[in-house]
Amino acid sequence: TVIVLDFGGQYNQLIARRVRECSVYCEVKPYTTPLEQLKAMDPIGIIFTGGPNSVYLETSPHVDPEIFTWGVPILGICYGCQLMAHTLGGQVTEAQEDSAREYGKTVTYYDTGCKLFHGLPEQGVSWMSHGDYMAKVPEGFRLAAHSDACPNVAIADEARGFYGVQYHPEVNHTQHGTDMIRNFLYEVCHAAGDWTMGDYKNTAIAQIREKVGDGKVLLALSGGVDSSVAAALLAEAVGSQLTCVFVDHGLMRKNEGDEVERAFAPWDINFIRVDAETRFLIKLAGVTEPEHKRKIIGEEFIRVFEEEAKKIGAVDYLAQGTIYPDVIESGAGDAAVIKSHHNVGALPDHVDFKEIIEPLRLLFKDEVRQLGRELGLPEYLVSRQPFPGPGLAIRIIGDVTKAKADMLREADAIFREEAALTGEDRRLSQFFAALTNMRSVGVMGDGRTYDYAIALRAVTTDDFMTADWARIPYELLDRISVRIVNEVPGVNRVLYDITSKPPATVEFE
Ligand code: XMP
Repeated sequence: TVIVLDFGGQYNQLIARRVRECSVYCEVKPYTTPLEQLKAMDPIGIIFTGGPNSVYLETSPHVDPEIFTWGVPILGICYGCQLMAHTLGGQVTEAQEDSAREYGKTVTYYDTGCKLFHGLPEQGVSWMSHGDYMAKVPEGFRLAAHSDACPNVAIADEARGFYGVQYHPEVNHTQHGTDMIRNFLYEVCHAAGDWTMGDYKNTAIAQIREKVGDGKVLLALSGGVDSSVAAALLAEAVGSQLTCVFVDHGLMRKNEGDEVERAFAPWDINFIRVDAETRFLIKLAGVTEPEHKRKIIGEEFIRVFEEEAKKIGAVDYLAQGTIYPDVIESGAGDAAVIKSHHNVGALPDHVDFKEIIEPLRLLFKDEVRQLGRELGLPEYLVSRQPFPGPGLAIRIIGDVTKAKADMLREADAIFREEAALTGEDRRLSQFFAALTNMRSVGVMGDGRTYDYAIALRAVTTDDFMTADWARIPYELLDRISVRIVNEVPGVNRVLYDITSKPPATVEFE
């Protein structure tokens, strides 16, 4: 075990994720955890996280100094580094000159003789975010990295196994950051490196069993990656005590509802699929305003779920597929509402439960997918591209009807099929067809047509906050276009969306 000791920094779970990436088990613990308790975990190393405070203030988080005489290697990151320096007799002050205060990408020079930097380039970009300055390094430490502005970017006392870095090795902006963490784990802590997602699965199952006992669990399944993996994990853990309510709003992609149902067939759970297509279509009839459509679908989802829950009666736990990025995002203040995102996870008002469980709360998206594979979920569910909760309704511009949804489903299926044939789909972050609310004139055979235009959308992105339109090959676009106009009645034109986000968004509504 490696302990990530949490001092309130924003990247703490990211540090934990990096450690897991290095095949080492870790747990995040608050800095207030008593030393005895930490000792009982028998860790091979400890990582102090960053934090928003200044170590020299009375009120800032501190540690029991005995942690430094216990003989366990420690890596301090940012605040954690300064805390180590401060506690061991160094001096940390507010940076006087602007030059000693560093934010953002900084060219850094590493001493590759130091275990932390073994085998890495001598120079690279690191991500800094600190306003304090280590004026005096504690006794026994030497300087192991510097930048143009700052002589002590990293400090090391290799005899005791103490290392401190002022920057954030856990973020992507720091080149070779994960390698530095790996060096700490392997060269300093001598980690065995045999931890796997399979172990995570087993631990999670044991924890769920202990918590749930013989209680009943209810989960709203959307068919997305997160709720599916949460469902599979719970199914594996508590089997028939789990009820999954899968609200099929009829606005999924082609065959998707059946695929979801089939994926859960191997488990002995209470699987309820509610065919609510008609209900949703009636509510949506004639509605054209995008936010209004989203609201209707979000509300109707909750209503359908509540009705099913009422039939089941009181349950002990309501399970949700919340993942770590959701936890961060929901805490993120007051950005302007561009779209009211609909997540099936939104809490219903009239469901009788005692407690919420969120078994994926600490995992990142790709870890969730990995866990899904471990649980034996089919690849089409696990590696599914993002699909918005309101489904095809926000890819049909204007009012939604069954005929339009069917048309769009066929066109979208052709796009996906052709993209998969060439392997192009693996280069794309998200791609789909949308039905524009536009009809135009065409000619087919000898006759005039007046039909709909399908828009194809394909983007590449890291985080979906910004996205670039994908340069997919003309030949592929051509095949898709030919097939769509030939195979989908009611469509006589295919357009390709060449707008990035911003100014457009990924979805059309
Ligand atoms: P936009 O259109 O906002 O999309 O650029 C960014 C990403 O979010 C997805 N998206 C949603 N996901 N519920 C979701 O769970 C929603 O209501 C929703 N709206 C958009 C979109 O597919 C893209 O991946």
